[in-house]
Amino acid sequence: GDEPGPSKVSRAKELSIPRIDQSQLYNLIRTSKAKRAATINEMSSEKAAPKQQNSVSNLAPKPNAKKRTATPTGSAVGTASMNGREALWVDKYRPKEMSEICANPGLIKQAKEWLESWNSVFGGGKRGKKERALLISGPPGIGKTTLAHVLCRECGFEPTEFNASDSRNKSAVHTIVRHSVLNRSLAEFAEKKHESAKKSTKGRVLIMDEVDGMSSGDRGGSSELISLIKESQIPIVCIANDDSVAQVRSLANHCFKLKLRRPTAAQVRNRLSKIAVHEGFVNIDLPTLDKLAESCQGDLRQMINCLQSWRLESSSLSFSDVTSRMKGEQKTSVQQSPFEVYSKVFTGPNSSGVMSVSDRLDGFFYDFDLMPLFVQESYINACSNGLEGIGMAADSLSESDVIGNVMRSDQKWELLPAFGILSSVRPSSMINARSTRPQFPSLLGKVSTTNRRIRQVNQIRVRIMPKTGALASDCTRLEYIPMFVGMWK
Ligand SMILES: Nc1ncnc2c1ncn2[C@@H]1O[C@H](COP(=O)(O)OP(=O)(O)O)[C@@H](O)[C@H]1O
Ligand SMILES: [Mg+2]
Repeated sequence: GDEPGPSKVSRAKELSIPRIDQSQLYNLIRTSKAKRAATINEMSSEKAAPKQQNSVSNLAPKPNAKKRTATPTGSAVGTASMNGREALWVDKYRPKEMSEICANPGLIKQAKEWLESWNSVFGGGKRGKKERALLISGPPGIGKTTLAHVLCRECGFEPTEFNASDSRNKSAVHTIVRHSVLNRSLAEFAEKKHESAKKSTKGRVLIMDEVDGMSSGDRGGSSELISLIKESQIPIVCIANDDSVAQVRSLANHCFKLKLRRPTAAQVRNRLSKIAVHEGFVNIDLPTLDKLAESCQGDLRQMINCLQSWRLESSSLSFSDVTSRMKGEQKTSVQQSPFEVYSKVFTGPNSSGVMSVSDRLDGFFYDFDLMPLFVQESYINACSNGLEGIGMAADSLSESDVIGNVMRSDQKWELLPAFGILSSVRPSSMINARSTRPQFPSLLGKVSTTNRRIRQVNQIRVRIMPKTGALASDCTRLEYIPMFVGMWK
């Protein structure tokens, strides 16, 4: 702030903290070495306030000074963590070239051909007959993201990646891509001047990772992506884990599809043993590695992570080690969709017999928001115990609703197991559910429709406000909107 508060100044005096002005602060930062940054940081929490407030000139605003202090501290933390903690092996051994990627050689070749011919088919605004985008799909950890990047590098393109953690709603996708396209033309402009730069890149490739995660937060994102693909001036690579999701399927209609398969044990054997030897494991035999590959179901990322965590404990690994360790991890590590969990745990009797209460409770904890909704969605259709079963299940569900509300509103999370029993375990055993294909909870769709309508009503309300004065939204909805509807008919 501009004025130091009197209490802060007196407190600083009390603790006999030296007072410096802004330029002194900058000097201090410039002269201090990284190792001293930590001490400054410690002190800064007490000192920062008086320091900045004392500056008379006030030329540079406060955020500026903050940024400066942040830089040395940040780098100190960075180096410390680099030294203290080893990098993840999955990143260390991320394939740098095509030949290092295990499995699916034929598909990889197709991908390469697709990208290599892209410029000749579409370059310069041509309307080629080929798909403008590539869709790589397959289970997690088999090298989809890696493939996309390696592909760009080998074909001389520059990747721009967006994944599920970036905002990808309609306008975000639009701006970003417009910029990428624009940048490309700038790059070409520059290339004309510097012929040498021409070889370095043929342009950009947009990589949209985890497009199946684009549903909830990214409203309009996937339809925008499709329209983008239709007229894109740069190649687009989309990556999805699950290509059976509706939006991925509609996306797939506009893409050149590559469905990567899980690598077999024989395919990953060499790479695993290379990593193991390189990291100092002694005499691991092939059956051990095969066992590892088998229990991770082809998920190379998981295999490498397992190796890394086991290496911390010992440098030898035998077949029986793998079997016993994987047993502990298997329960949690196997990746399942909520649909699979639901149909495995809550319907029965199936091949594995009726699940016990504790198994079902485990299934509930897989996702305690979603499982009750699944049960509620299907309990009527899947019931094999007649009306009585449905009735009892409905009672249980309504009790669970009461408990669930209390739990959430009062933050009484100790009620969660009881909620689980009432909302999922009990109803599903009462109806003795047939194994039907589980439906996605329609409640979620309804909630989003409701929210959308509330937004629309509010927009109308705000627009008519100048003529009507402030209205409650109920009033808009019940009185004005029906009138508009009547007018438009
Ligand atoms: N086919 C593969 N060949 C070699 N390494 C792989 C392969 N698949 C995965 N990996 C390893 O697993 C890590 C994660 O791969 P990634 O491409 O991120 O998987 P995905 O995007 O399919 O989930 C990589 O860093 C790499 O070390
Ligand atoms: Mg990935």
